[in-house]
Amino acid sequence: MRARVIRSPRGTRSAWVLLLMILAPMLQAQADPRTNYLLHCMGCHQPEGAGTAMGIPALRDRVGYYLDLPGGRDYLLHIPGARNAPLKDDELASVMNWVIEQFAGRSLPARWERFTATEVAQARAAKPVDIDAWRAKLWAQLPAQEVAASNADATPASKATLY
Ligand code: HEC
Repeated sequence: MRARVIRSPRGTRSAWVLLLMILAPMLQAQADPRTNYLLHCMGCHQPEGAGTAMGIPALRDRVGYYLDLPGGRDYLLHIPGARNAPLKDDELASVMNWVIEQFAGRSLPARWERFTATEVAQARAAKPVDIDAWRAKLWAQLPAQEVAASNADATPASKATLY
């Protein structure tokens, strides 16, 4: 009797509706920036944004520096690890904003503008760039004490060990 109800088209439909009702909050949770960071970025940058000695730059206490450097904001939108992530433009913008709020710490400028989906879309449509050269140029503009305060793994020279 029970099996017959499940097999009937109507029963199947309500089973789907029920399943969707159960899944909807979980799917919504996946769009949350923290979850997206854990799914798409943490593997390299580590849960606390510490990076690795193997050439993954730390985000903690330094990702905010880029926001104040000329071209730095644009650089952040061109990072291959982020731009190629299977995230929609608005999701990537939210993850970037979350990363900055979460990790920038002492490097956070007094004022900064949140990333938007439009900016992400524009950067994604642009040709890939020589990201290493761009990064090195930005680091060369940072005041020496800020560079010294950063971990060795975050400097362009040691990052080269990754390749
Ligand atoms: C495969 C490893 C990898 C993944 C996955 C990855 N990144 Fe990165 N990320 C890097 C590397 C390496 C750099 C340095 C620039 C370069 O060489 O691409 C970087 C640089 C950055 C930077 C700038 C920090 C700096 O000092 O250059 C930010 C911000 C960033 N990534 C955010 C993200 C976000 C957000 C995600 C997830 C959507 C992500 N990354 C996924 C490897 C990764």
